[in-house]
Amino acid sequence: MNYQWYPGHMTKAKRQMSEDIKLIDLIIEITDARVAISSRNPDIDELGKGKARLVLLNKSDLADPEVNKKWAEYYKSKGIYALEVNSKSGAGLKAIQATVNEACKEKIERDRKRGIKNRPIRAMVVGIPNVGKSTFINSFAGKAVAKTGNKPGVTKGKQWIKMSKSLELLDTPGILWPKFEDNATGMKLAFIGSINDEIIVTEEMALDFVKYIDRLYPEAVIRHYELAPDTPTDHRILEEIGKKRGCLMSGGETDIVKAARILMDDYRAGRLGRMSLESPEML
Ligand code: G4P
Repeated sequence: MNYQWYPGHMTKAKRQMSEDIKLIDLIIEITDARVAISSRNPDIDELGKGKARLVLLNKSDLADPEVNKKWAEYYKSKGIYALEVNSKSGAGLKAIQATVNEACKEKIERDRKRGIKNRPIRAMVVGIPNVGKSTFINSFAGKAVAKTGNKPGVTKGKQWIKMSKSLELLDTPGILWPKFEDNATGMKLAFIGSINDEIIVTEEMALDFVKYIDRLYPEAVIRHYELAPDTPTDHRILEEIGKKRGCLMSGGETDIVKAARILMDDYRAGRLGRMSLESPEML
């Protein structure tokens, strides 16, 4: 199946982001740990030149723990700071402040030499839609933090959220767009629910999913739905899932579309187990 993406207002977003990037010291790039390649936009390397970088492997609770570790090591080997987090529960967020200080140590040192004391590090959160930028900002900021308000002449009406005495966050996340170098990128983003399901044929996507996942996590689907081990990975597997879940149409036939939807919902909610669709070896 052909997976499409319609960027719409993204050109304006990119222009805005190049302006915003001038105001910050650090880029916090949020990725989806399950699709750590496809949920990144490589343009950020160009846009963020000269800025300190921190990559967050968000939704790490839904991804394979072994693969999460590999990604953390991969980034470390490239000299990029990276942390596994779960913005929904808050797990892993505590480690951020220390890592930010480490990533920005040159700036801190520069300030110190110039006699500037306690100038907060300014950061911006970027990522493609649905990786969890808003969840992260809300969760990381917590309830206690106050917006610092406008600072005329310095921030030109930008809102900054004070995270701590040494870190401020631009309150509007920078929205990047996925980069479709091949159809597989779109396909994986569709699997995790980052491409509007309205433009996707659920049944075809579910079949693509079953085939893809069968190579990485053989039997995960069969185990979850308690299907016969020899169930083929074609439309018959959707039939079987439908039967198990009582998806019947008025004539007594199995409702394949409903079965496909159940499968994708179960996967997205992590009910099939923690799975990663991409690992560093695929690069
Ligand atoms: P965005 O700003 O980047 O577009 O993403 P947003 O924060 O809206 O998050 C998209 C979805 O991802 C939300 O789910 C959010 O709860 C979920 N999410 C964000 N971070 C994590 C995480 O670390 N782990 C898990 N498991 N989920 C995460 P939703 O279904 O749209 O909303 P909700 O029903 O969860 O409120």
